[in-house]
Amino acid sequence: MSETVTVQAPANIAVIKYWGARDLQHAVPANPSISMTLSSCVSTTSVRIRDAGADEILLGDGGVLRPAEGSFRDRIAAHLQTLRDCLGRHERFVVATRNSFPAAAGMASSASGFAALTVAVSEALGLRLDTERLSELARLSGSGSAARSVMGGWVEWPAASSGERFAAMQLASAEHWTLCDVIAIVQQAPKDVSSLDGHRRAATSPHFERRLTVLPARLAGVRQAIAHRDLAALGEILEQDAIELHLVAMSSRPPIYYWAPATLAVMQTVRNLRVAGRPAFYTMDAGANVHVLCAPADEDAVAQALLATPGVVELVRDRTGSGPRRLETSLFDEAIGHG
Ligand code: DP6
Repeated sequence: MSETVTVQAPANIAVIKYWGARDLQHAVPANPSISMTLSSCVSTTSVRIRDAGADEILLGDGGVLRPAEGSFRDRIAAHLQTLRDCLGRHERFVVATRNSFPAAAGMASSASGFAALTVAVSEALGLRLDTERLSELARLSGSGSAARSVMGGWVEWPAASSGERFAAMQLASAEHWTLCDVIAIVQQAPKDVSSLDGHRRAATSPHFERRLTVLPARLAGVRQAIAHRDLAALGEILEQDAIELHLVAMSSRPPIYYWAPATLAVMQTVRNLRVAGRPAFYTMDAGANVHVLCAPADEDAVAQALLATPGVVELVRDRTGSGPRRLETSLFDEAIGHG
């Protein structure tokens, strides 16, 4: 039996959002995006090569491994085939995967999940791929944001004019600038409309093209803010871009409303924090939950204010992290009743 490889990969939060695609099937984005890789919100994936048979995909759930089902299983199976095709390999795999995210937190796990799967499969095959190649492969899962989760710190994923090879690149390490991301969970149910549908509808919004024209200046501003660790400059731009993602979504045909009433309440709390001298800034992905970025020195005060906001049901505290890592323990060993 082959060696088991276990990889833990983090989620990321975009400060300039990927929204809308040139080629959705191959996850070719309409615009470049920049994100901060997280550290506690992770997916853990164990992979070993099967001696015979088809791929087996298991989901770790409270110390037990169960066969994965439905579209979750299908997306992983499709990505395993894509990896085989791209790498010219024929092996079949046993895969077990688990998320650290709090139960039903309604947070996207595909970026961390596909990053972990991509890195674990390449290591199980004995390949030593660089992060650029891993980024290109992770993106082919269809979860474009997975292309950013194979690297730590601050990561830019460029746009390309066609489906050719292109990868994310690290702008700065987690050591260069560590910020906290206090995530206010206001909605635990999964979102109604997937990011995939959001990307599909984005170009129907009258605001879509206009956003693309202002993005080069915004991207330059974010790169500079990261280089100078300038939270006020980063914060102003990341709020603008988050609002515009939702403006595009709300004005798409048919429209998509990701926010809940408590999303607006949290945004108001963050503005109040700033008035009170605590620099904190909000951003929302394709969902109602709010990521609040602040300096580590302000994390406790921010968390306290968010918890006191009506409609906030849970907080997740995270911060800048350094990317995927290999673990010694495997989900196969941990699981009860799986040999
Ligand atoms: C709003 O197509 O990467 O998070 O696979 O569901 O994670 P998932 O979505 P993906 O689109 C991400 C959309 C976004 C913005 C971003 O992360 O850039």
